[in-house]
Amino acid sequence: MTHAILELAESAPDAQLLVLPVLRLDDALTISAPPGLPDLGPSLEATGFRGKSGETQKIAVPHEGGVRAAIALGLGDGSDEEQARRAGGALARAAGTSAVAIDADALEPAIRQAVLLGALLASYRFTAYKSELDDDALTTITVVTGDRDRAAAENARATTLANAVALVQDAVNTPPNDLPPAALADIALRVAHENGFESRVWDEQQLRDGGYGGLTAVGQGSSRGPRLVRLAYRPEGAELHIALVGKGITFDTGGLSLKPAASMVGMKFDMAGAATIIGVLQAAAELGIQVAVTGWLCIAENMPSSTATRPDDVVTIYGGKTVEITNTDAEGRIVMADGIAAASEEHPDLIIDIATLTGAQVVALGDRTTAVMGNDDAWIRSVVDASRSVGEPSWAMPIPEEVGDTLKSPVADLANMRSGNRSAGMLVAAAFLERFVGDRADGSGALPWVHLDIAGPSNNESAAYGYVPKGATGVMLRTLIALLEARA
Ligand code: BES
Ligand code: MN
Ligand code: ZN
Repeated sequence: MTHAILELAESAPDAQLLVLPVLRLDDALTISAPPGLPDLGPSLEATGFRGKSGETQKIAVPHEGGVRAAIALGLGDGSDEEQARRAGGALARAAGTSAVAIDADALEPAIRQAVLLGALLASYRFTAYKSELDDDALTTITVVTGDRDRAAAENARATTLANAVALVQDAVNTPPNDLPPAALADIALRVAHENGFESRVWDEQQLRDGGYGGLTAVGQGSSRGPRLVRLAYRPEGAELHIALVGKGITFDTGGLSLKPAASMVGMKFDMAGAATIIGVLQAAAELGIQVAVTGWLCIAENMPSSTATRPDDVVTIYGGKTVEITNTDAEGRIVMADGIAAASEEHPDLIIDIATLTGAQVVALGDRTTAVMGNDDAWIRSVVDASRSVGEPSWAMPIPEEVGDTLKSPVADLANMRSGNRSAGMLVAAAFLERFVGDRADGSGALPWVHLDIAGPSNNESAAYGYVPKGATGVMLRTLIALLEARA
């Protein structure tokens, strides 16, 4: 894991690039600079710098009889946290050096934290497989402050979030040859152990014996067997219990319904949902959030082989419903069915599942906007609101009753898809999952359930933007933390 670290100091170390936050108020630049510097406004304006949010400009400033390097960081009118996070990202990319110092006392608390978090997130790099490091990512951000205690607490929060996002990114970026199902399960167990919460893992034999027919069916084509992991974070005094179910396909070839070569590239990202849950639990524990959270990670490798599940096979999901497999590439919903059914048995107050479930999600909403579906409008709205508050775009989509009709099967309770019917593929997948959501403890209808399809947003295939680096994004981790915090 590599992202910049946050340090504290009372004055900016000489060798570090000095960050000068600049607001543009009433059409004039307001520059926060350490005392003793001349008015830098004219020099900055002469470079064409306008103070727009995310704009950067390197300049030399007088320092102890000589000069030192500084970088002006535009923050616009300094009122929008998402703009400030993106500006932090722009700073991390523009600094082009190993260390910067920023005067924290000059900024509003929320804006200051947003800049720091954005810079940390943008400084993430996945370097484990590079024999030569080819870029100059930010390594240190020194927060210059007279209020050490407050700054230390703020730094700890930003670091917790950035560490958790980086944990997800590292797992997702790791090549699939080095991340078989057991290895992903081990990451979850390590995090559980480090944070003192309960964990259980089922191996392939225990899954078969325990009736987890979905994980068994998807995983049986691989020599590296499937796993189910249950993590239970139980803070004292928690009143709400949320179950998180994640898709953890460590590689998705499509199985016997093999993907075309070009569509298979990138399918190491297919475990992003499960990885996100590990990160959420780590951050929730470090932040001491007062909500009980149970994580269910549905982990398998979807491979074609003589032991693989065939189209036409019928499998029995945990809890007894039977599924006719018509396409082995619609494997996510099969493993998630086991996880949702198992999570339901504990009657949580809410089930949220998160999965790189459908290519149709990318068609519908592109690669930055998460699709939110479910059976409970109020909870859907809460998730969308939380996502907006942290700058992770999402959009609510419906599960119209008739889309489920395409899942009728002549031989089983339902089919996992209907070939030849490509309409509303994302909604059909959600309709499939909904069938496995159990009833409330008092029998008054289904448990509240929200489904997040992150197929596009989990991976940034384009260049870095805002505070989002290339590759794995760790998307929805901060949304889920914001949701938990709002309900704690
Ligand atoms: N993992 C894929 C979904 C996916 C596609 C994620 C592209 C990210 C980018 C999923 O398992 C899958 O293959 N879905 C199929 C379902 C279809 C066979 C009903 C799809 O979307 O094509
Ligand atoms: Mn697939
Ligand atoms: Zn998949």
